[in-house]
Amino acid sequence: MNQFGVLRLEGDNAEQIEVCDLVDGRHGHLVAGMQALHAEHFPTYVTETAGIAIDASRPSARYGLMVHQWLVTIDGQPAALQIMDSNLVRGIGVARFTAIGGSHRRTRIGGHRLSAWLTTLASDTLVSDVGSNALGLVGEVEEFDEGAITFWLSLGHRLLPIPHAERGERSQPEARAQDHAQGTTWDDLVLQTEQLIEGDPRLRPSALMWVPAAGVDADALQQHVCEAGSAAWLLDEYALDAFHPLVVATVGDQANLSSPDRNRDAAGIALP
Ligand SMILES: CC(C)(COP(=O)(O)OP(=O)(O)OC[C@H]1O[C@@H](n2cnc3c(N)ncnc32)[C@H](O)[C@@H]1OP(=O)(O)O)[C@@H](O)C(=O)NCCC(=O)NCCS
Repeated sequence: MNQFGVLRLEGDNAEQIEVCDLVDGRHGHLVAGMQALHAEHFPTYVTETAGIAIDASRPSARYGLMVHQWLVTIDGQPAALQIMDSNLVRGIGVARFTAIGGSHRRTRIGGHRLSAWLTTLASDTLVSDVGSNALGLVGEVEEFDEGAITFWLSLGHRLLPIPHAERGERSQPEARAQDHAQGTTWDDLVLQTEQLIEGDPRLRPSALMWVPAAGVDADALQQHVCEAGSAAWLLDEYALDAFHPLVVATVGDQANLSSPDRNRDAAGIALP
């Protein structure tokens, strides 16, 4: 990727592929296209779609994080996206969203499917952001979607053996309107940790999957990644109570590290 956050390459069928990192106020003309692609594939993540524009206008470097939002265009058209944070505190990449437009799923780069190529881009970027201690990428697969889990396992991801739940808005329009009326959106829902155990319609039981960084001894590090990966989601993303027994049992010593903050810059100054 060059200094403007752009990578140009050719697909196996001579497609002109461009990958742009929509951060630091760069590539503003592409933000709407990325949001449209995101909304098409993740229609219930309304707040996250809006958040793409906010993150695009802010620096990539935040307090304890590097934020990346890649839009892939193929022959000039928005075709795929990958949104990923490097969590510098925990040495983990938080894989937030990956989507490929239906007509582009046959695209291959050096024989690799675009999804596998994007995973490698995210892994390599994590290593570049974090250094040689990078553990790899951890992402959520909502509601134990068996088809999705099988697919990601086929790309070399591992299923982490820990209980997990994703914070989300309910998918039915009426329920979503109710959640919004109650102020339970992604940004302002304050979760009670008990909900992880007892179940709550605003929480989706979910699996955590891990893509080990190149050269990592995955078997030896899996327990550490369970703790660092769940801390990246439960503490850093969802702000659960770090002293709750379930959270303590899941995240271990990771509870002692201070969470990154995407609303502050790298020096800790609040962003507008
Ligand atoms: C996930 C995704 C990026 C994978 O793209 P891809 O590498 O081009 O792979 P495909 O979509 O062609 O899927 C490959 C195979 O896995 C299957 N698969 C992939 N995701 C699946 C799912 N959630 N459920 C069931 N099957 C799934 C496909 O049906 C396909 O099977 P086939 O080869 O028998 O046709 C793409 O399916 C996508 O954009 N999905 C929508 C967004 C999404 O769910 N993202 C993941 C969560 S962040």
